[in-house]
Amino acid sequence: MEKPREMPQETPRLVDPFQRPVTYLRLSVTDRCDFRCTYCMAENMTFLPKKDLLTLEELDRICSAFITQGVEKLRITGGEPLVRRGIMDFFGAMSRHLESGALRELTLTTNGSQLHRFSDDLVAAGVKRVNVSLDTLNEEKFAKITRWGRLPQVLKGIDAAQKAGLRVKINAVAVKDFNQDELFDLVSWCAERDMDLTFIEVMPMGDMDEVARLGQYWPLTDLRAELAQHFTLTDLSDNTGGPARYIRVEETGQKIGLIQPLSHNFCESCNRVRMSCTGQFYTCLGHDGMSDLRGPLRASKDDDALIKAIHAAISRKPKGHDFDYSRQKVSGQTVRHMSHTGG
Ligand code: GTP
Ligand code: 5AD
Ligand code: SF4
Repeated sequence: MEKPREMPQETPRLVDPFQRPVTYLRLSVTDRCDFRCTYCMAENMTFLPKKDLLTLEELDRICSAFITQGVEKLRITGGEPLVRRGIMDFFGAMSRHLESGALRELTLTTNGSQLHRFSDDLVAAGVKRVNVSLDTLNEEKFAKITRWGRLPQVLKGIDAAQKAGLRVKINAVAVKDFNQDELFDLVSWCAERDMDLTFIEVMPMGDMDEVARLGQYWPLTDLRAELAQHFTLTDLSDNTGGPARYIRVEETGQKIGLIQPLSHNFCESCNRVRMSCTGQFYTCLGHDGMSDLRGPLRASKDDDALIKAIHAAISRKPKGHDFDYSRQKVSGQTVRHMSHTGG
Protein backbone atom coordinates (compact mmCIF):
# COMPACT_ATOMS: atom_id res chain seq x y z
CA MET A 1 0.00 0.00 0.00
CA GLU A 2 1.21 3.53 -0.81
CA LYS A 3 2.12 5.52 2.26
CA PRO A 4 0.24 8.78 2.78
CA ARG A 5 2.43 11.73 1.83
CA GLU A 6 3.53 13.86 4.71
CA MET A 7 4.71 17.15 3.32
CA PRO A 8 5.53 19.87 5.80
CA GLN A 9 3.09 22.65 5.05
CA GLU A 10 5.80 25.24 4.88
CA THR A 11 7.80 23.46 2.12
CA PRO A 12 9.38 26.27 0.13
CA ARG A 13 8.47 26.26 -3.53
CA LEU A 14 10.77 26.81 -6.44
CA VAL A 15 8.87 28.99 -8.88
CA ASP A 16 10.35 30.47 -12.03
CA PRO A 17 9.71 33.94 -13.50
CA PHE A 18 6.84 32.54 -15.60
CA GLN A 19 5.07 31.18 -12.49
CA ARG A 20 5.98 27.56 -13.34
CA PRO A 21 6.66 25.50 -10.18
CA VAL A 22 9.85 23.44 -10.48
CA THR A 23 9.25 19.99 -9.00
CA TYR A 24 11.31 17.68 -11.22
CA LEU A 25 15.10 17.32 -11.06
CA ARG A 26 17.02 15.32 -13.66
CA LEU A 27 20.42 14.49 -12.31
CA SER A 28 23.18 13.27 -14.59
CA VAL A 29 25.56 11.17 -12.50
CA THR A 30 28.14 10.62 -15.25
CA ASP A 31 28.84 11.90 -18.75
CA ARG A 32 30.24 8.49 -19.71
CA CYS A 33 28.37 5.85 -21.62
CA ASP A 34 29.07 2.39 -22.95
CA PHE A 35 27.21 3.26 -26.19
CA ARG A 36 27.87 6.02 -28.73
CA CYS A 37 24.42 6.77 -30.20
CA THR A 38 24.90 8.78 -33.36
CA TYR A 39 22.34 11.48 -32.44
CA CYS A 40 23.85 11.88 -28.97
CA MET A 41 27.63 11.57 -29.10
CA ALA A 42 30.60 11.69 -31.39
CA GLU A 43 32.44 8.37 -31.62
CA ASN A 44 35.57 9.65 -29.95
CA MET A 45 34.24 11.72 -27.10
CA THR A 46 36.52 13.32 -24.55
CA PHE A 47 35.00 12.65 -21.17
CA LEU A 48 35.46 14.64 -18.00
CA PRO A 49 38.39 13.63 -15.82
CA LYS A 50 37.08 11.57 -12.90
CA LYS A 51 38.44 14.12 -10.41
CA ASP A 52 35.97 16.72 -11.73
CA LEU A 53 32.95 14.64 -10.76
CA LEU A 54 31.00 15.44 -7.65
CA THR A 55 31.24 12.59 -5.17
CA LEU A 56 28.15 10.50 -4.49
CA GLU A 57 27.93 12.18 -1.08
CA GLU A 58 27.95 15.59 -2.74
CA LEU A 59 25.26 14.51 -5.21
CA ASP A 60 23.23 13.32 -2.24
CA ARG A 61 23.60 16.71 -0.54
CA ILE A 62 22.51 18.58 -3.66
CA CYS A 63 19.50 16.33 -4.33
CA SER A 64 18.46 16.52 -0.70
CA ALA A 65 18.65 20.32 -0.85
CA PHE A 66 16.41 20.35 -3.94
CA ILE A 67 13.97 18.05 -2.17
CA THR A 68 13.74 20.40 0.81
CA GLN A 69 12.76 23.06 -1.73
CA GLY A 70 9.84 21.09 -3.13
CA VAL A 71 11.35 18.78 -5.77
CA GLU A 72 9.14 15.65 -5.82
CA LYS A 73 10.43 13.73 -8.81
CA LEU A 74 14.06 12.72 -9.20
CA ARG A 75 15.27 11.11 -12.41
CA ILE A 76 18.82 9.78 -12.57
CA THR A 77 20.38 10.06 -16.02
CA GLY A 78 23.83 10.09 -17.65
CA GLY A 79 25.53 9.34 -20.03
CA GLU A 80 24.56 5.93 -18.82
CA PRO A 81 23.80 6.26 -15.09
CA LEU A 82 24.37 2.57 -14.32
CA VAL A 83 28.03 2.71 -15.38
CA ARG A 84 28.92 5.06 -12.51
CA ARG A 85 30.77 3.15 -9.83
CA GLY A 86 28.82 2.83 -6.58
CA ILE A 87 25.61 4.16 -8.09
CA MET A 88 23.47 1.64 -6.21
CA ASP A 89 24.65 3.14 -2.92
CA PHE A 90 23.35 6.45 -4.18
CA PHE A 91 19.95 4.97 -5.10
CA GLY A 92 19.88 3.30 -1.69
CA ALA A 93 20.55 6.62 0.00
CA MET A 94 17.86 8.44 -2.00
CA SER A 95 15.24 5.91 -0.97
CA ARG A 96 15.04 7.62 2.43
CA HIS A 97 13.31 10.55 0.71
CA LEU A 98 10.69 8.17 -0.70
CA GLU A 99 10.19 6.70 2.74
CA SER A 100 9.74 10.13 4.32
CA GLY A 101 7.16 11.00 1.65
CA ALA A 102 9.11 14.06 0.48
CA LEU A 103 9.88 12.42 -2.87
CA ARG A 104 7.03 11.01 -4.95
CA GLU A 105 9.20 9.27 -7.53
CA LEU A 106 12.78 8.05 -7.85
CA THR A 107 13.52 6.77 -11.33
CA LEU A 108 16.07 6.60 -14.11
CA THR A 109 16.59 6.71 -17.85
CA THR A 110 19.00 4.05 -19.07
CA ASN A 111 20.24 2.42 -22.25
CA GLY A 112 19.45 -0.92 -20.59
CA SER A 113 22.91 -2.42 -20.94
CA GLN A 114 23.37 -2.95 -17.19
CA LEU A 115 19.80 -3.67 -16.14
CA HIS A 116 20.46 -7.40 -15.89
CA ARG A 117 22.88 -6.58 -13.06
CA PHE A 118 20.96 -3.93 -11.17
CA SER A 119 17.18 -4.39 -11.52
CA ASP A 120 16.71 -6.12 -8.16
CA ASP A 121 18.72 -3.45 -6.34
CA LEU A 122 16.74 -0.70 -8.04
CA VAL A 123 13.50 -2.26 -6.84
CA ALA A 124 14.96 -2.53 -3.34
CA ALA A 125 15.71 1.20 -3.45
CA GLY A 126 12.08 2.00 -4.23
CA VAL A 127 12.33 2.50 -8.00
CA LYS A 128 9.06 1.47 -9.62
CA ARG A 129 9.67 2.12 -13.29
CA VAL A 130 12.53 2.71 -15.72
CA ASN A 131 12.73 4.36 -19.11
CA VAL A 132 14.87 2.37 -21.52
CA SER A 133 16.16 3.94 -24.73
CA LEU A 134 15.64 1.60 -27.67
CA ASP A 135 15.19 2.83 -31.22
CA THR A 136 15.10 -0.39 -33.23
CA LEU A 137 14.46 -4.11 -32.83
CA ASN A 138 16.85 -5.02 -35.60
CA GLU A 139 20.26 -6.16 -34.30
CA GLU A 140 22.26 -4.68 -37.15
CA LYS A 141 20.46 -1.36 -37.08
CA PHE A 142 20.84 -1.28 -33.31
CA ALA A 143 24.59 -1.74 -33.62
CA LYS A 144 24.65 0.96 -36.29
CA ILE A 145 22.77 3.66 -34.37
CA THR A 146 24.37 2.98 -30.98
CA ARG A 147 27.79 2.21 -32.57
CA TRP A 148 28.91 0.21 -29.50
CA GLY A 149 25.63 -1.23 -28.23
CA ARG A 150 24.41 -4.79 -28.69
CA LEU A 151 20.69 -5.50 -28.80
CA PRO A 152 20.66 -8.92 -27.04
CA GLN A 153 22.29 -7.40 -23.97
CA VAL A 154 19.60 -4.71 -23.76
CA LEU A 155 16.81 -7.24 -24.27
CA LYS A 156 18.29 -9.29 -21.44
CA GLY A 157 18.25 -6.16 -19.29
CA ILE A 158 14.62 -5.45 -20.12
CA ASP A 159 13.68 -9.04 -19.24
CA ALA A 160 15.46 -8.72 -15.92
CA ALA A 161 13.73 -5.41 -15.19
CA GLN A 162 10.27 -6.82 -15.88
CA LYS A 163 11.06 -9.94 -13.87
CA ALA A 164 12.12 -7.79 -10.94
CA GLY A 165 8.77 -6.01 -11.10
CA LEU A 166 9.85 -2.76 -12.70
CA ARG A 167 7.46 -1.10 -15.10
CA VAL A 168 9.37 -0.45 -18.34
CA LYS A 169 8.84 2.39 -20.76
CA ILE A 170 10.62 2.30 -24.08
CA ASN A 171 11.94 5.61 -25.44
CA ALA A 172 12.45 5.55 -29.19
CA VAL A 173 13.97 8.53 -30.94
CA ALA A 174 12.11 8.90 -34.23
CA VAL A 175 14.77 8.97 -36.92
CA LYS A 176 13.81 9.47 -40.53
CA ASP A 177 14.74 6.67 -42.93
CA PHE A 178 16.02 4.69 -39.96
CA ASN A 179 13.17 3.39 -37.82
CA GLN A 180 10.23 4.71 -39.85
CA ASP A 181 9.62 1.21 -41.20
CA GLU A 182 9.55 -0.23 -37.68
CA LEU A 183 6.77 1.93 -36.31
CA PHE A 184 4.21 -0.88 -36.17
CA ASP A 185 6.75 -3.49 -35.05
CA LEU A 186 7.76 -1.33 -32.10
CA VAL A 187 4.13 -0.63 -31.20
CA SER A 188 3.12 -4.29 -31.24
CA TRP A 189 6.29 -5.47 -29.49
CA CYS A 190 5.59 -3.07 -26.61
CA ALA A 191 1.92 -4.09 -26.51
CA GLU A 192 2.83 -7.78 -26.32
CA ARG A 193 5.22 -7.16 -23.46
CA ASP A 194 2.93 -4.71 -21.66
CA MET A 195 5.43 -1.86 -21.92
CA ASP A 196 4.68 1.79 -22.47
CA LEU A 197 6.26 3.43 -25.49
CA THR A 198 7.28 7.00 -26.13
CA PHE A 199 8.56 8.49 -29.35
CA ILE A 200 10.90 11.48 -29.24
CA GLU A 201 11.73 13.99 -31.94
CA VAL A 202 15.42 14.28 -32.57
CA MET A 203 16.78 17.50 -31.09
CA PRO A 204 19.70 19.57 -32.36
CA MET A 205 22.22 19.15 -29.57
CA GLY A 206 25.99 18.83 -29.81
CA ASP A 207 28.18 19.54 -32.81
CA MET A 208 26.48 17.33 -35.39
CA ASP A 209 26.49 18.65 -38.87
CA GLU A 210 23.36 20.44 -39.96
CA VAL A 211 22.57 18.36 -43.02
CA ALA A 212 22.79 15.16 -40.98
CA ARG A 213 20.50 16.56 -38.27
CA LEU A 214 17.89 17.84 -40.71
CA GLY A 215 17.97 14.50 -42.50
CA GLN A 216 17.17 12.71 -39.21
CA TYR A 217 14.08 14.75 -38.38
CA TRP A 218 10.84 12.76 -38.58
CA PRO A 219 8.07 14.98 -37.19
CA LEU A 220 5.84 13.11 -34.77
CA THR A 221 2.84 14.78 -36.36
CA ASP A 222 3.63 12.57 -39.38
CA LEU A 223 4.20 9.53 -37.17
CA ARG A 224 0.83 10.08 -35.48
CA ALA A 225 -0.91 10.40 -38.86
CA GLU A 226 0.63 7.09 -39.92
CA LEU A 227 -0.59 5.39 -36.74
CA ALA A 228 -4.04 6.89 -37.27
CA GLN A 229 -4.32 5.17 -40.65
CA HIS A 230 -4.20 1.78 -38.90
CA PHE A 231 -5.54 2.43 -35.42
CA THR A 232 -8.18 4.44 -33.62
CA LEU A 233 -6.29 6.96 -31.48
CA THR A 234 -7.66 8.86 -28.51
CA ASP A 235 -5.83 11.83 -27.00
CA LEU A 236 -5.37 11.42 -23.25
CA SER A 237 -4.92 14.01 -20.57
CA ASP A 238 -2.55 11.73 -18.53
CA ASN A 239 0.57 13.37 -17.26
CA THR A 240 3.63 11.76 -15.67
CA GLY A 241 5.15 15.15 -14.92
CA GLY A 242 7.36 14.63 -17.99
CA PRO A 243 7.08 16.31 -21.40
CA ALA A 244 5.15 13.59 -23.22
CA ARG A 245 1.56 13.87 -24.41
CA TYR A 246 -0.22 10.53 -24.52
CA ILE A 247 -2.55 8.81 -26.93
CA ARG A 248 -4.37 5.52 -26.46
CA VAL A 249 -4.48 2.93 -29.20
CA GLU A 250 -8.06 1.68 -28.84
CA GLU A 251 -7.44 -1.64 -30.60
CA THR A 252 -4.68 -2.71 -28.16
CA GLY A 253 -5.48 -0.49 -25.17
CA GLN A 254 -1.85 0.61 -25.04
CA LYS A 255 -0.61 4.09 -24.27
CA ILE A 256 1.86 5.84 -26.53
CA GLY A 257 3.71 9.01 -25.54
CA LEU A 258 4.81 11.65 -28.00
CA ILE A 259 7.60 14.08 -27.09
CA GLN A 260 7.47 16.82 -29.68
CA PRO A 261 9.81 19.65 -28.74
CA LEU A 262 9.86 20.72 -32.38
CA SER A 263 6.36 20.16 -33.68
CA HIS A 264 4.44 20.82 -30.46
CA ASN A 265 6.27 22.99 -27.99
CA PHE A 266 5.59 22.04 -24.37
CA CYS A 267 7.75 24.64 -22.64
CA GLU A 268 4.82 26.50 -21.13
CA SER A 269 4.21 23.62 -18.73
CA CYS A 270 7.89 22.94 -18.02
CA ASN A 271 8.46 21.82 -14.44
CA ARG A 272 12.05 20.55 -14.69
CA VAL A 273 15.68 21.44 -14.25
CA ARG A 274 18.90 19.52 -14.82
CA MET A 275 22.14 19.06 -13.05
CA SER A 276 25.35 17.70 -14.53
CA CYS A 277 27.71 15.41 -12.64
CA THR A 278 30.07 18.33 -12.00
CA GLY A 279 27.43 20.54 -10.39
CA GLN A 280 26.52 22.61 -13.44
CA PHE A 281 22.89 23.55 -13.13
CA TYR A 282 20.86 23.97 -16.34
CA THR A 283 17.38 25.40 -16.06
CA CYS A 284 16.56 24.65 -19.72
CA LEU A 285 17.57 21.73 -21.95
CA GLY A 286 17.60 24.05 -24.96
CA HIS A 287 19.98 26.69 -23.61
CA ASP A 288 23.67 26.50 -22.86
CA GLY A 289 23.39 28.97 -19.96
CA MET A 290 24.12 27.38 -16.59
CA SER A 291 24.94 28.17 -12.98
CA ASP A 292 27.58 26.53 -10.87
CA LEU A 293 26.37 24.72 -7.75
CA ARG A 294 29.69 23.08 -6.89
CA GLY A 295 31.16 26.35 -5.58
CA PRO A 296 28.36 27.10 -3.09
CA LEU A 297 28.18 23.39 -2.17
CA ARG A 298 31.84 23.23 -1.25
CA ALA A 299 32.04 26.71 0.27
CA SER A 300 30.24 25.68 3.43
CA LYS A 301 29.02 22.65 5.35
CA ASP A 302 25.51 24.00 5.67
CA ASP A 303 23.25 24.33 2.66
CA ASP A 304 22.27 28.00 2.87
CA ALA A 305 24.53 29.21 0.04
CA LEU A 306 23.57 26.21 -2.08
CA ILE A 307 19.85 26.80 -1.65
CA LYS A 308 20.32 30.49 -2.38
CA ALA A 309 22.18 29.62 -5.60
CA ILE A 310 19.40 27.21 -6.65
CA HIS A 311 16.75 29.90 -6.16
CA ALA A 312 18.85 32.51 -7.96
CA ALA A 313 19.28 30.23 -10.99
CA ILE A 314 15.59 29.37 -11.12
CA SER A 315 14.72 33.05 -11.03
CA ARG A 316 16.51 33.24 -14.41
CA LYS A 317 14.94 30.14 -16.01
CA PRO A 318 14.31 30.91 -19.70
CA LYS A 319 10.82 30.79 -21.14
CA GLY A 320 11.68 27.95 -23.53
CA HIS A 321 14.01 26.42 -26.06
CA ASP A 322 14.63 27.87 -29.52
CA PHE A 323 15.05 24.56 -31.39
CA ASP A 324 13.72 25.02 -34.90
CA TYR A 325 14.09 23.06 -38.14
CA SER A 326 11.81 25.24 -40.21
CA ARG A 327 13.00 26.86 -43.42
CA GLN A 328 15.31 23.88 -43.96
CA LYS A 329 17.76 25.21 -41.44
CA VAL A 330 18.63 24.05 -37.94
CA SER A 331 18.48 26.77 -35.34
CA GLY A 332 18.47 27.07 -31.58
CA GLN A 333 21.14 24.37 -31.45
CA THR A 334 23.04 23.87 -28.20
CA VAL A 335 26.79 23.32 -28.04
CA ARG A 336 26.65 20.65 -25.38
CA HIS A 337 25.81 17.06 -26.20
CA MET A 338 22.66 15.42 -24.90
CA SER A 339 24.85 13.11 -22.82
CA HIS A 340 26.06 16.08 -20.75
CA THR A 341 22.71 16.47 -19.01
CA GLY A 342 21.02 13.21 -19.95
CA GLY A 343 18.24 14.64 -22.09
P1 GTP B 1 8.46 10.23 -17.76
O1 GTP B 1 8.66 10.47 -16.33
O2 GTP B 1 8.31 8.78 -18.09
O3 GTP B 1 7.43 11.09 -18.39
O4 GTP B 1 9.88 10.58 -18.45
P2 GTP B 1 10.51 11.86 -19.06
O5 GTP B 1 9.97 12.06 -20.43
O6 GTP B 1 10.43 12.99 -18.13
O7 GTP B 1 12.04 11.40 -19.14
P3 GTP B 1 12.94 10.71 -20.22
O8 GTP B 1 14.30 10.63 -19.65
O9 GTP B 1 12.32 9.45 -20.68
O10 GTP B 1 12.96 11.77 -21.37
C1 GTP B 1 12.50 11.52 -22.64
C2 GTP B 1 12.95 12.56 -23.61
O11 GTP B 1 12.31 13.79 -23.34
C3 GTP B 1 14.44 12.82 -23.62
O12 GTP B 1 14.89 12.76 -24.95
C4 GTP B 1 14.54 14.20 -23.12
O13 GTP B 1 15.60 14.85 -23.72
C5 GTP B 1 13.23 14.82 -23.51
N1 GTP B 1 12.92 15.92 -22.63
C6 GTP B 1 12.70 15.83 -21.30
N2 GTP B 1 12.47 17.06 -20.80
C7 GTP B 1 12.58 17.92 -21.83
C8 GTP B 1 12.50 19.34 -21.94
O14 GTP B 1 12.30 20.06 -20.97
N3 GTP B 1 12.68 19.90 -23.17
C9 GTP B 1 12.93 19.14 -24.25
N4 GTP B 1 13.09 19.76 -25.42
N5 GTP B 1 13.03 17.80 -24.18
C10 GTP B 1 12.86 17.20 -22.99
N1 5AD C 1 17.31 14.19 -29.61
C1 5AD C 1 16.31 13.52 -28.98
N2 5AD C 1 16.50 12.58 -28.04
C2 5AD C 1 17.76 12.27 -27.76
N3 5AD C 1 18.27 11.38 -26.88
C3 5AD C 1 19.62 11.47 -26.93
N4 5AD C 1 20.01 12.39 -27.84
C4 5AD C 1 18.87 12.90 -28.38
C5 5AD C 1 18.60 13.90 -29.34
N5 5AD C 1 19.57 14.57 -29.97
C6 5AD C 1 17.42 10.54 -26.04
C7 5AD C 1 17.91 9.16 -25.74
C8 5AD C 1 17.19 8.86 -24.44
C9 5AD C 1 16.86 10.18 -23.85
C10 5AD C 1 17.39 10.47 -22.51
O1 5AD C 1 17.35 11.13 -24.77
O2 5AD C 1 17.60 8.21 -26.69
O3 5AD C 1 16.00 8.15 -24.65
FE1 SF4 D 1 24.64 6.71 -24.34
FE2 SF4 D 1 22.08 7.44 -24.08
FE3 SF4 D 1 23.74 8.97 -25.46
FE4 SF4 D 1 23.06 6.59 -26.44
S1 SF4 D 1 21.65 8.37 -26.03
S2 SF4 D 1 25.16 7.44 -26.34
S3 SF4 D 1 22.86 5.37 -24.66
S4 SF4 D 1 23.87 8.59 -23.30
